[in-house]
Amino acid sequence: MKKYTIPNTELKVSKLAYGCMGIGGSWDEEPSTIESISNATDAITAALENGINIFDHADIYAKGKSELVFGKVLKEIKGLRDKIIIQSKCGIRFKGEPEKDSPGRYDFSYEHIINSVDGSLKRLGIDSLDILLLHRPDPLMEPEEVAKAFDEVRKKGKVRYFGVSNFNGGQITLLQNSLDFPIVINQIEISLLHHHVINDGILANQLNGRYAASTGLLDYCRTNDIQVQAWSPVALGKIFNPSLDADDNVKALAEQISIYAEEKATSKEAIVLSWLLKHPVGIQPVIGTTNTDRIINSCKADDVTLSREEWYRLFTIARANSVP
Ligand SMILES: NC(=O)c1ccc[n+]([C@@H]2O[C@H](COP(=O)([O-])OP(=O)(O)OC[C@H]3O[C@@H](n4cnc5c(N)ncnc54)[C@H](OP(=O)(O)O)[C@@H]3O)[C@@H](O)[C@H]2O)c1
Repeated sequence: MKKYTIPNTELKVSKLAYGCMGIGGSWDEEPSTIESISNATDAITAALENGINIFDHADIYAKGKSELVFGKVLKEIKGLRDKIIIQSKCGIRFKGEPEKDSPGRYDFSYEHIINSVDGSLKRLGIDSLDILLLHRPDPLMEPEEVAKAFDEVRKKGKVRYFGVSNFNGGQITLLQNSLDFPIVINQIEISLLHHHVINDGILANQLNGRYAASTGLLDYCRTNDIQVQAWSPVALGKIFNPSLDADDNVKALAEQISIYAEEKATSKEAIVLSWLLKHPVGIQPVIGTTNTDRIINSCKADDVTLSREEWYRLFTIARANSVP
């Protein structure tokens, strides 16, 4: 799989990233089972063997078990740490922490960021994260407080680069203005079934357009050299297997994906991911399947080129409306 450098970093990454949310098993306090560790090892190995070199985590995935399981695999495969890019996130807290009646919330406080980074490093069994993202915008964010925490973990060598997730342009600017180093990633949900950030651009100044807070976000990231990552790039598989009561356009989209996969002698995953890869902002899809066949199928995306006509056919079916 081809690689490129994330702007403003020395990180050379594969076109697809592997999302580790699913490798930790259940989201409870139960320890990982032998089966889930073995499945995780198979998934990570399949990703590596098919060219993926960047792995996405969060402190909360499977209540820490995704990072723990990944740490075990890192120990097993000698030299692996130095060959891959490890990214994690902080800023979401579960309800019940620290008090039983504490609500679920976002927390960009200095203390939480520092503790979260230490927790991720410990679970992963590594000295430093390549990238740390703020998971979801915290309305109570104080940019100077985040900057203080980022500065500290950076100077101590615990984190090399910083990014955000699910942020709009204004939120990124607000934070960036307090930092002495660039925000290099914004990880957001994008797929053919969740295409608003792409659709927003062509709805500009149209009376029937729906305007969202994310208007202009992709252009903002492109202008500011911020790498866009797409989470849920295959919409949890719904894009291939729409439910019986799914809208007609969703069913038509699944059919068109199958037609292109057959015509191009490739997988359906490759068609859907290559649709993201074609966008000139340079989207890095973060695939989340734990199934080794689907990982292999996904990695074929790099070999697929969609024509402009094919790209628009998928897009207009997905948006249930032609352009203009
Ligand atoms: N920043 C954020 O707020 C945020 C939010 C969500 C996720 N993420 C990151 O993004 C990564 C990917 O997200 P995601 O897991 O939602 O993405 P996804 O790749 O769209 O979905 C993966 C899920 O869909 C299932 N799936 C995939 N292909 C399928 C198919 N052909 N048929 C049936 N089921 C299929 C997988 O099951 P199998 O495992 O059985 O294949 C898995 O449960 C996560 O691992 C995480 O790292 C970030």
